[in-house]
Formats: sequence, structure tokens, C-alpha cells
Amino acid sequence: MPMKLIIVSNRLPLTVTQKNDKYKITPSAGGLTTGLHSLETKMEKHWVGWPGIHFENDIAQIRIESQFRKHQFHPVYLTPDLVENYYEGYSNSIIWPSSHYFFSYVQHKDEYWEAYKEVNQLFCEKTLEIFEPGDIIWVQDYQLMLLPGLLRKVIPNACIGYFHHIPFPSYELFRCLPERSEILKGLLGADLIAFHTHSYMRHFISAIYRILKLDCVFDEIYVENRVINVDAFPMGINYQQFHDAIQEVSIKRKADKFRENFGAGKLILSVDRLDYTKGILTRLQSFDKLLADCPQYREKVSLAMIVSPSRDSVERYDHLKEEIDKAVGSINGQYSTLGWRPVYYFYRSFKFEELAALYNIADIGLVTSYRDGMNLVAKEYVASKQGKQGVLILSEMAGAAIELHDAIIVNPNNINELKEAFVEALEMPESLQAKNLEKMQAVIAKQNVGKWAKDFVQELFLSLIHI
Ligand code: F6P
Repeated sequence: MPMKLIIVSNRLPLTVTQKNDKYKITPSAGGLTTGLHSLETKMEKHWVGWPGIHFENDIAQIRIESQFRKHQFHPVYLTPDLVENYYEGYSNSIIWPSSHYFFSYVQHKDEYWEAYKEVNQLFCEKTLEIFEPGDIIWVQDYQLMLLPGLLRKVIPNACIGYFHHIPFPSYELFRCLPERSEILKGLLGADLIAFHTHSYMRHFISAIYRILKLDCVFDEIYVENRVINVDAFPMGINYQQFHDAIQEVSIKRKADKFRENFGAGKLILSVDRLDYTKGILTRLQSFDKLLADCPQYREKVSLAMIVSPSRDSVERYDHLKEEIDKAVGSINGQYSTLGWRPVYYFYRSFKFEELAALYNIADIGLVTSYRDGMNLVAKEYVASKQGKQGVLILSEMAGAAIELHDAIIVNPNNINELKEAFVEALEMPESLQAKNLEKMQAVIAKQNVGKWAKDFVQELFLSLIHI
């Protein structure tokens, strides 16, 4: 039997939704599943995760599970109560806002922590069903921070890695979590704990040192008879897939059609999950400011905003959707003409083919996150460019800004700075656009998702040598 790589993440790469009696399987939103799903590895890849549905119909469950088996997906089912308290609650109403410095959005309830522990245990049991000695277990992200510790108790010699895809906040914020010690101890079940950037890694080590008072030497933590390694690996994308997409006749045709539909003006494109961390309202305010302060750009530029529905059962997200609707309506109401629409707003997910075509034609790619672990959209936009045109405006608060210095880097809280960035991008000579794209493409092509995973697994093996 070949050695297995068991990826464990909150979501499977495919999510099942139900409408009346019909079930629909769609790719899950977000960089984690998109990136890891396109990972090719020589190991037998298995995936443990939540399929996003709680079946009440056995026949449908059998049919969909047979699809999952084909992909070596192992579903963990969550009751509506667990979804409410573990996913919407502890994960997305406590850890998510704390980690993105939205401290006032944090909502505490006892049921949240109880459900978080219970679901981490369910994931542990499912992983143990398929685990065999010699396999590698790779746990992903903040929804499963207790899992490495739970697994370690049952399989003390297993090779367990953990990757944190969101920012790890500074100690001053992390210390406010009532369950801070349990969470850190859970993570320490892993042999290697990794982050996208060195600053998240430093924040984590500082929390370990101050909260658990453990010995840390540089990037090693000493716990009883174990040494745990901590490192930074910026996650990448499947570069070639995005870069070559436009060679496909069907995608090229789509790109030409989109270009025609958007008209002759320049196109700014943003693609996000609906999330208050993405700076969507500030982006709209700064675009509004551009049209107000610089009338010469009216009818010359449009903003296309793709916002994928996400976490809409969490109150904050639902409220944000209403505000976006209002802001888009207000800009379009004020500036639209018979032949020009300032903002095209799509509240739905786009297929890869459509995204690749849009990335390719967009003159400007825009990422305005207030905080973002990495932001793979920035990399997808740059990778999809063939030729000389394309400018990336990128928030300095996104992990991707560490690698993509040749973007126009902005502070997303500064509406004036964003407006100036639009002007700079709109006026940038083609020769400079081409030079910047070339430099960024070289970085993204090298640090692709395959290399990211290979580097992580290699270091995971090396970290075992301490034992
Ligand atoms: O990157 C953070 C993350 O929460 C991932 O874990 C997840 O794949 C993605 O965002 C989408 O989030 P959700 O599964 O809550 O829609």
C-alpha cells in the first residue's frame, strides 16, 4: 500500500447543498480548498472534511457518498446544532474576528467551545478510521486547532503537521481568548506548525512563550520529550493552470465576449468571499471618490466585483451584504449613463473558466483586505496575465504583500491612498506594467502550490529526526 497523505480540513473541496429534493455538488469557496485540491502528489491523497450538508435522505446520501469515495474524500457530518455552535460560533464568531483584529465582533457563548471540542473529536475519529502507520496527517486551519493534540494522544508516533491559513494575531489579542491555553496545547500535538508569514509565526511563538511558559529556541519549541518545529511557508497557486488557461479556445472566447460586454473602458476586478475582513465597503468608497474627484475617469473605467456568498447565517455577514447592496446601488444610481455602468456586482461564485477569462481581461486586479492570511486571488490575477497589461493593487495587510512587492501596495484603511492607487494604476505605462508583472510572475511560478506542499512535507519529515 502506498503511504497516504491525509489532509484534514473543515471543508471538503466539494460542498453539497440541497434545494427541495435536489442535491447540488459545487467546489468549496476559499483559497485553502482551491489551492490544496489542485495539488498533485505522488502520495495517495485522502481528504477528511465536512461536506456542508446534513442528510435526511438515505438514498441521496448513498449516491453522494459514492462520488466522495471516488475522490478519496471522507465526510464528517455535522448536525445543524454543531454547525451553529462550532462553525458559525466558535470558529467564525470568536477565532475568525479575533485573528483578523475585529475584536469588537467577538461573541462568546459557552455552547461554542463545547461544540468546538466535540467537532475536533469527530474529525479525530474519522481520521483514525483511515490512518495507517507511515501515513502523514496534515491538519489545516483554525477550525481544527485541537485536532493535532487529540490525534497525538491516540497515535503518539504519528507524523502530524498543521498549517494555519489565517493571520495569527499578536499576543495582546490572542491572550484575550478564554481558551487560549487549551488551543495552544492542541496545536502542540503537531510535529510541525506552519504559517504563511514570519510575522504570524513570531506572534505564535510569543504566545507559546508567554502563555504556556515553554522553552522556545528560535523556531523550536520543547515540550516534555518532543521538539516541535515552527516555520513559515507562503502558500502558492497552481501557476501553470492559471497562466495557460487563456490558450484554451473556450476560455479565450469567453474573455473576448466579456471584453465586448464591459465596453471600451478600463476594467478593475475584485474577487472575494463575502467577508468584513476584505475591505469591500472601503473599496467602494474609494472608487466613489475616484469618480467624484476625477470626473475625467467617468465612462472610462468600471469596477467588476465578484463576491462569493459565504457564512451568510452569521449575523455580521448578512448585515454586510445589505450594506454592499446599498453602496453599489448608490454609486450606480449617481453615475451610470445609458452606455456605462460604474460597478458590476455579482453576488455568486464563478467557475474557473469564467474567472480565468476575467482575470485575463481585467486591467487592474484589486485586493483591499483589512487582514488576510495570504490572499491567493492576488496571485491568480497576476498568473493569468499573458502579455504586457495588468496592474495589481494589493493591501499591505494581506500575507501576499510580502512576496508581491511589485504590486501597488496600499493601506486599505486609507481611502485617499486607494483613490491615488487607482489613478497610478490607470496611468501606468505599459512598459512598467509588463516589468512588474514579469517580476511577480517569476515569484508566483516558483513558489507554486506544489512547492509549498513539498517544502512543508519535507520539513515535517526532517522535524521527526529530533526524536
Ligand atoms: O482561509 C480561511 C478559510 O476559513 C478556510 O479555512 C476556508 O477554506 C475558507 O476560508 C472559506 O471559508 P468557509 O469554509 O467558512 O466558507
